[in-house]
Amino acid sequence: SRPIGVAVLGMGNVGTEVVRILTEKAADLQARIGAPLELRGVAVRDLSKERKGVDRALLTDDPMALVQRDDVDLVVELLGGIKPARKLILAALEGGKSVVTANKALMAEHSGELSKAAEDHRVDLYFEAAVAGAIPVIRPLTQSLAGDSVNRVAGIVNGTTNFILSEMAESGAGYGKVLAEAGRLGYAEADPTADVEGYDAASKAAILASIAFHSRVTASEVHREGITGISAKDFDAAKKFDCTIKLLAICERIDVDGEQKISARVYPALVPLDHPLATVNGAFNAVAVEAENAGRLMFYGQGAGGAPTASAVLGDLVMAARNRVFHGRGPLESTYAGLPVASIDEV
Ligand code: NDP
Ligand code: HSE
Repeated sequence: SRPIGVAVLGMGNVGTEVVRILTEKAADLQARIGAPLELRGVAVRDLSKERKGVDRALLTDDPMALVQRDDVDLVVELLGGIKPARKLILAALEGGKSVVTANKALMAEHSGELSKAAEDHRVDLYFEAAVAGAIPVIRPLTQSLAGDSVNRVAGIVNGTTNFILSEMAESGAGYGKVLAEAGRLGYAEADPTADVEGYDAASKAAILASIAFHSRVTASEVHREGITGISAKDFDAAKKFDCTIKLLAICERIDVDGEQKISARVYPALVPLDHPLATVNGAFNAVAVEAENAGRLMFYGQGAGGAPTASAVLGDLVMAARNRVFHGRGPLESTYAGLPVASIDEV
């Protein structure tokens, strides 16, 4: 099949890793997709910055021109924030290009408008990386559990605050120092207020509640408390009750006077030390899903950072590219058709 042109918008923590994997794993990706992925350009804000792992000729500070190029089929949005990401994604979808994004702030507020544009133009809009980094949680909710009824989705969905709270619990380390370290490790948002005040977790809760309960929930509808008020004294008090403190996101169907409602909230909570969430430390996340027939499912892994998040982005990119090559016949047919025969050791 003809090459698939890819535009990457943003080359920060996540974009750098996406470009690296696209380059290093080009042959493997081609074999899985059935066509080569060709990087047409990478949009950044500051062209003078030192960048490793990219041909400088591919860099541009005009993301709209890149998105609108005729030889671009797939757009990967890794800028963050609403402006100019929303307009760029709309332009891509309206131009018949599929989009992969890790932008939870945008998806939590504008998923209705963006999904409609994708449907109208019969292209894909994938956002697995927007919630819980490397952990597959969007696809299980939208596909694997599509025939079940989910009643509750709850867990730890922000790596930065979990990293900070884990360090405070372990070593009593100071809040400011640990937050700076989370930024250095590529976990924190460009404006870390989004992490520590709970806005990032609220965006993720809104996305999870929307897809789990098939209802539109926006971030502003999520009850939100951050961790800026938590001190060493709170951890001392928690220890006395054999508990630790975690920032939890809880989305559930509730019954209010016989009426079915949705509750979505983010707040620092006491978690008993013998509870599975108490052992989720550092930038790891964990999401528990309760469904009527499946029962309880647990998803756990790296919730933030360049490479883990890029893994989820690449997964979406392969799916979107395969849909192009196989005209939406679905990934499974192409996965199994024409696989080379494996050489298996006899045991
Ligand atoms: P960074 O801040 O590290 O990178 C953002 C990139 O976008 C930079 O390369 C920046 O350019 C570029 N950029 C920003 N605005 C513009 C603009 N107007 N025009 C052109 N380029 C622009 O962000 P991250 O990589 O950490 O995050 C990217 C997205 O992924 C965000 O939506 C974030 O929420 C999401 N995400 C991040 C995770 C993480 O662990 N970091 C995990 C999951 C999701 P320049 O380099 O010149 O400044
Ligand atoms: N800043 C986010 C976090 C990145 O710390 O969880 C992953 O979404």
